[in-house]
Amino acid sequence: MHLGHALKINDVHVGKIAEMVADFSGIVIDRLFLKQVARKIALQMDKYAISKPDEYISMLKQGENFTFVMEDLIAALTVSESYFFRNPAQFEYLYYEYFPWFFNEPAKNGIPLRVWSAGCSRGEEPYSVAVLLANYKNKYPWAEYIIKAGDINSLNLEAARKGIYSVRSVRDKFSGFEKILPEKFGVFNEFGNFVIDKKFAEQVIFDKLNLNQGNELKKLNWSDIIMCRNVLIYFKDELKARLLEAFFECLNPGGLLLLGETECLPSDNSKFEVINYKNTYVFKKNK
Ligand SMILES: C[S@@+](CC[C@H](N)C(=O)[O-])C[C@H]1O[C@@H](n2cnc3c(N)ncnc32)[C@H](O)[C@@H]1O
Repeated sequence: MHLGHALKINDVHVGKIAEMVADFSGIVIDRLFLKQVARKIALQMDKYAISKPDEYISMLKQGENFTFVMEDLIAALTVSESYFFRNPAQFEYLYYEYFPWFFNEPAKNGIPLRVWSAGCSRGEEPYSVAVLLANYKNKYPWAEYIIKAGDINSLNLEAARKGIYSVRSVRDKFSGFEKILPEKFGVFNEFGNFVIDKKFAEQVIFDKLNLNQGNELKKLNWSDIIMCRNVLIYFKDELKARLLEAFFECLNPGGLLLLGETECLPSDNSKFEVINYKNTYVFKKNK
């Protein structure tokens, strides 16, 4: 890294950049980590061969065509950590409780189950759902489903479409799920990476999604399951509240909202039924 660039970036620059990042994505940059943020900005400036912070700021300001510079910065500032069957109890709930309910509910007869993974990172989350649904369909061939997944970070989406994962993504032998995965859903290649089987990869439709852009939330309309796990933690309270409202509106009756383990609904929530399943929470829209 060109340390000189980091030294040129002062708190005012970081403040301006943080504001632009928040306007674009809703992500709040933690004031406690300003030094680290300045270093990450310096790395981005190096990448685009820019030596003055003000030049970088104007580049970020130039809208549409420069979206990729902003996305690149966001990718550097956020953690895209994910793994298959993260928070396994939620997946158990889907497999043992929700899918049987949905596919046997007379009102849902012949209607495909629609799943959205919002903030899907590199795809571990929607592929975990895909393999469970494929498994379910083996036993109950009438079960139809559509799985969509989106993220603000184009590089994450590119990686998701490739479906090649380091061992970190398959930790704890798929969080113990390998016992209910009779079909091989991938193989380990000669580099020790896990490569998802094409059959499953084709089941997930990946699409760009910025949760801070109200019009993009329409993509989630008519969902039966919305997974937005470990994403809200990045956002300001006002955006979190707006998104919870939007998720409720986008869900079909009986639809399910899954959040990260440390994320919850406001204490005055009256919209979702809160279900405690093996000490994890899932939120059901009853009306
Ligand atoms: C920690 S990962 C969570 C991945 C997965 N949902 C999980 O729980 O394992 C957070 C993801 O949210 C994405 N993200 C952050 N801001 C976003 C936004 N405004 N719109 C859509 N995705 C966003 C990041 O790019 C990142 O991939």
